[in-house]
Amino acid sequence: MSSPAQTNTQSVAEPKITPKNPAFDFRKYRPFAFAPKLTDRTWPDKTMTKAPIWASVDLRDGNQALIDPMTIPQKMTFFKLLLEVGFKEIEIGFPSAAQVEFDFTRKLIEENHVPDDVTLQVLVQAREHLIARTFESLKGAKRAIVHVYNSTSRVQREKVYGKNCDEIKQIAIEGAKLVKQYASQYPETEWVFQYSPESFSQTETDYAVEVCDAVIDVWQPQNGQEVIINLPATVEASTPNIFADQVEYFCRHLKQRDLITVSLHTHNDRGCAVAAAELGVLAGADRIEGTLLGNGERTGNMDIIVMAMNLYSQGIDPELDFSNMSEIAQIVGECNNLPLHPRHPYVGELVFTAFSGSHQDAIKKSLDYNEKHLAETENFWDVAYLPIDPAHVGRTYQDVVRINSQSGKGGVAYILQRHYGFNLPRWMQIDFSRVVQNQAEEVARELKTEELIQTFEDTYLTQTALNLQDYSVNNKGGEVMFTGQVEMNGDIIDLEGKGNGPLSSFIDALAQHTNKRLHIANYAEHAISQAHHLDDDFDSSSDKTNANAVAYIQLNVDGEIYSGVGTCTSTVSAMLKGALSALAQTL
Ligand code: KIV
Ligand code: ZN
Repeated sequence: MSSPAQTNTQSVAEPKITPKNPAFDFRKYRPFAFAPKLTDRTWPDKTMTKAPIWASVDLRDGNQALIDPMTIPQKMTFFKLLLEVGFKEIEIGFPSAAQVEFDFTRKLIEENHVPDDVTLQVLVQAREHLIARTFESLKGAKRAIVHVYNSTSRVQREKVYGKNCDEIKQIAIEGAKLVKQYASQYPETEWVFQYSPESFSQTETDYAVEVCDAVIDVWQPQNGQEVIINLPATVEASTPNIFADQVEYFCRHLKQRDLITVSLHTHNDRGCAVAAAELGVLAGADRIEGTLLGNGERTGNMDIIVMAMNLYSQGIDPELDFSNMSEIAQIVGECNNLPLHPRHPYVGELVFTAFSGSHQDAIKKSLDYNEKHLAETENFWDVAYLPIDPAHVGRTYQDVVRINSQSGKGGVAYILQRHYGFNLPRWMQIDFSRVVQNQAEEVARELKTEELIQTFEDTYLTQTALNLQDYSVNNKGGEVMFTGQVEMNGDIIDLEGKGNGPLSSFIDALAQHTNKRLHIANYAEHAISQAHHLDDDFDSSSDKTNANAVAYIQLNVDGEIYSGVGTCTSTVSAMLKGALSALAQTL
């Protein structure tokens, strides 16, 4: 073969800035040189409609990249997790590379840890003694994928192996022959052969096709041999659209494409491994290799959780179960001994959290809208700022809205709604969010949900200065009379007042007693649905949360506005208690 590496003749611009560190010099780099010439690409017009075949390489590629490779018990824990998540193809290691890898393979087989519908995969270089040892490790497996590879990129050919294209192709052919030969010695196993032109992303695509065709010629899928050709972006070296062109070009030129499973194995050097895999599937790939949370050499392998959840969020069955994301992340973290970024897509602690007031407001409004328009929205998830429902991956409402000094009334209202079932009217939201903002600024940190609830109770619900005692309200010819007692600072006071309703007659009674000018500025009430308590994580034993009705009142007291909240089993008592809660703010 022949595709010579392109030479870059582009003239290099002079730097526009003078970096502090002179080593920071972009002129040391050249543009990507391995893009195939493809002018009629079809992948941009395609969409994904189903999950690819997933293959986990956590126990091999992921493991190879760890500071301390996994012990056998850690590998076993991880393997069981992969089974629970639903992987059917699992690369369990490199049995010819280390005794622990060999032993783990034997353990899985000898102790019958592999379900019938799961296929073990192992990696091996295209060298005879390693291939022999690999087949030895797999003795007794029901079905197994032997994954053989050699590097085909220009830099490796020229600088690492000092071999030309034909010599490198020969290594692949020899490896393929050895795999076929050793497989025939273990006929009790159903063998699948996999070949990777390592560093496919930095290999001339024509040449990659040529090498893979040669391997396929040895394996002869036309005679029933199952073959996977895996295309690694061993180093991610271009934008994902170029990688997709490479994949489409490859699939269009491979001789027996229809008989082959084309697999992708993308690394994340440019931060686009998932995007490259996604576009690569549009470009014709059938199968994706990757790891949970993206562990792998350097910047990692593509993250299968992210790609699967991307599909999920588009209404496509990911065919993997990530409903218990926190537990999955915890097990992966324990086995890999790596921390998780709090903003890791779909998994990190903060990924469903809105701190900003406008985001919180939009989330609350979307949720309220959806609740009111269930039929119209057909119950599809469509909430501003939240690509998926956090509950679907086992997260709670406390993850969604967190309160700091950036937060606004929407977030505060959301928490109260979820905690008590309270739907604060806008003026009440504004009143309480001022209290919260002051508190958050004072403590200069996030307020925990429990603190916010406590502040709400302290501010409105548990004041002890004014307490409603026995009372009656009677309607006499359209005029409502209030008669009753209120405990004021420990003294029981008899009150009487008149008005056109229970609340106005009570306000009249209070005005007479206190000698203040009292008017109702705003008023709202609603019944409290008990349903919200089901997903309430807090202790809701207090009678405030067991109330059936809540009333919100803004009182104009001598020209100043004060807000209060009252709860009770009856609406009338809730409104009277709300008035006392507002009046208590003046004391
Ligand atoms: O990244 C890579 O190229 C690999 C191969 C061995 C498949 O891990
Ligand atoms: Zn890799």
